[in-house]
Amino acid sequence: VKEMVRVLVTGAAGQIGYALVPMIARGVMLGPDQAVILHMLDIPPAAEALNGVKMELVDAAFPLLKGVVATTDVVEACTGVNIAVMVGGFPRKEGMERKDVMSKNVSIYKAQASALEKHAAPNCKVLVVANPANTNALILKEFAPSIPAKNITCLTRLDHNRALGQIAERLNVHVSYVKNVIIWGNHSSTQYPDVNHATVMTKDGEKQVRELVADDQWLNGEFITTVQQRGAAIIKARKLSSALSAASSACDHIRDWVLGSSKGTWVSMGVYSDGSYGVPAGLIYSFPVTCEKGEWSIVQGLKIDEFSRAKMDATANELAEEKSLAHSCLE
Ligand code: NAI
Repeated sequence: VKEMVRVLVTGAAGQIGYALVPMIARGVMLGPDQAVILHMLDIPPAAEALNGVKMELVDAAFPLLKGVVATTDVVEACTGVNIAVMVGGFPRKEGMERKDVMSKNVSIYKAQASALEKHAAPNCKVLVVANPANTNALILKEFAPSIPAKNITCLTRLDHNRALGQIAERLNVHVSYVKNVIIWGNHSSTQYPDVNHATVMTKDGEKQVRELVADDQWLNGEFITTVQQRGAAIIKARKLSSALSAASSACDHIRDWVLGSSKGTWVSMGVYSDGSYGVPAGLIYSFPVTCEKGEWSIVQGLKIDEFSRAKMDATANELAEEKSLAHSCLE
């Protein structure tokens, strides 16, 4: 029998939370034989809604769900958790300056870092979803020094999956035949979706995406901007930001991290940079990674052309700016 896993979802009364918790309770995140206890955190104004979500979880009678903790108390929420999915945050409201949003989120992530450090299970794996995701993750890392840096990540898997989806639509193939796209950098509009190493499985074997698409103008232009702007396009269509795709991608991220990525396939994760590919160390930056036995490692040795280099540097620069903005909020 596998040991019970406690999964924390912060911001659980929000839109992504509402899509995510049933996926976790159904085994989408950790597999169909993994029993879970869900810990859900939100803030007092959302306490009643959070309780409603808890009621629905009870009503859904999920076989794998062995318990639900719904709370507005950060310590109670973090106690004993093995996996923490940080979806709660302060959204940018009309008229707010970037610095104001950053400042709110920095203080949230600083406080939650301490609670996780003190009360989570040893070796707890953390995924930050809430924006600015990379920088929230960095603050969390800095204020939870006893949690290994490799345990703190942010979500760029949604962008990765969006890139796979765009290539699949363009080539009219099923998305599962496309692999090894890369999202470099920030989960923002400066991210660089890179297809230079991506392949498609065809009846004649694996082929390069560049070769099959045979339209560099599209790949270097519209493809990139479509992936970068996809979040905005969803908001325009739904009048709400992406939720089911974000939740599903968060499950993909944790599943691959815990259970391993498929052989020959890499995925994108925002991780603490060790300087690979000339990305400054000390940023949370999205890289291509493979996962095995609960550990990710950055795919090494990929050839980077000049076009890619410039885009990888631009998104690194944005992250360095966000980092100093975040630090200035702490002064
Ligand atoms: P939402 O506004 O529906 O839900 C956020 C929830 O967080 C709310 O229930 C709110 O009360 C709660 N919250 C606020 N402060 C909190 C705190 N200190 N502790 C615990 N909970 C707190 O937002 P939604 O649509 O669910 O999105 C959540 C976040 O995810 C946003 O920051 C959004 O920008 C981000 N996002 C990130 C994506 C990614 O790929 N990395 C994709 C889509 C959204």
